[in-house]
Amino acid sequence: MEPTESCYLKFDQVSFSWPNGVKVIDHCSFSIVKPGLWMLVGENGSGKSTLFRLINGAIRPESGKIFCSLRPSMVYQNPDHQLLMPTCKSELMLSVPKTIPDRSLLNVVQSALEKVDLGEMLDRPIHTLSGGQKQRLALAGAIVSNSNLLLLDEPTALLDPQSQNSVLKVLKKLTSSPNDPITAIWITHRLEELYFCDGAAILQNGGIGRWNSGSKVFQELKSLALR
Ligand SMILES: Nc1ncnc2c1ncn2[C@@H]1O[C@H](COP(=O)(O)OP(=O)(O)OP(=O)(O)O)[C@@H](O)[C@H]1O
Ligand SMILES: [Mg+2]
Repeated sequence: MEPTESCYLKFDQVSFSWPNGVKVIDHCSFSIVKPGLWMLVGENGSGKSTLFRLINGAIRPESGKIFCSLRPSMVYQNPDHQLLMPTCKSELMLSVPKTIPDRSLLNVVQSALEKVDLGEMLDRPIHTLSGGQKQRLALAGAIVSNSNLLLLDEPTALLDPQSQNSVLKVLKKLTSSPNDPITAIWITHRLEELYFCDGAAILQNGGIGRWNSGSKVFQELKSLALR
């Protein structure tokens, strides 16, 4: 498959089955051609997390092709499963690429914290952060590692509304920044989040429909629920 010039991520007729034989992804084709906040919805067990594993290369398609010109990073539902170190600074130091010279380490870490609105938190113990702050620290970890494709698997499912908004706001800022905007794919079950995205799609029957506006997908899902 020849990716188009500006294509960031492209699935071409990708299929995948787990060893139990269930075909979770079935001739799935879609592409993302520009940075932004892209949201994905689908019923439990429809294959959303499996799709992320295909994108980040943890599993391989049994047929079809995946083209990805971006560097993916995962952000999970529970930040406590992702954050390992005692402080914000030590956590981010873990993810800084080895190519960064020692004299620049602190600047790189501080700048990543500022991008996620945690600029004052360099020496803050992680156990004192709120859930939303922890999720934003996980985002900063992806940023310092030089990732430019965030795969967010229900990142706000465990957060209260205020923390949920703080994560959405930061993601919106990172994906629409005039300098170096990143690409994010966000799996959500919280349908009100669809109003913040640049495009949304439904994963069903192993495939992804076309990208639509978040409000259109919201209405579509509401009308399905009312049937
Ligand atoms: N590691 C695995 N081994 C075997 N089967 C798996 C594995 N991971 C997922 N599956 C199966 O693949 C199907 C899709 O699961 P997946 O976790 O991708 O769905 P999902 O859309 O993310 O669901 P949810 O909304 O509940 O998170 C399910 O039938 C699940 O049991
Ligand atoms: Mg899942």
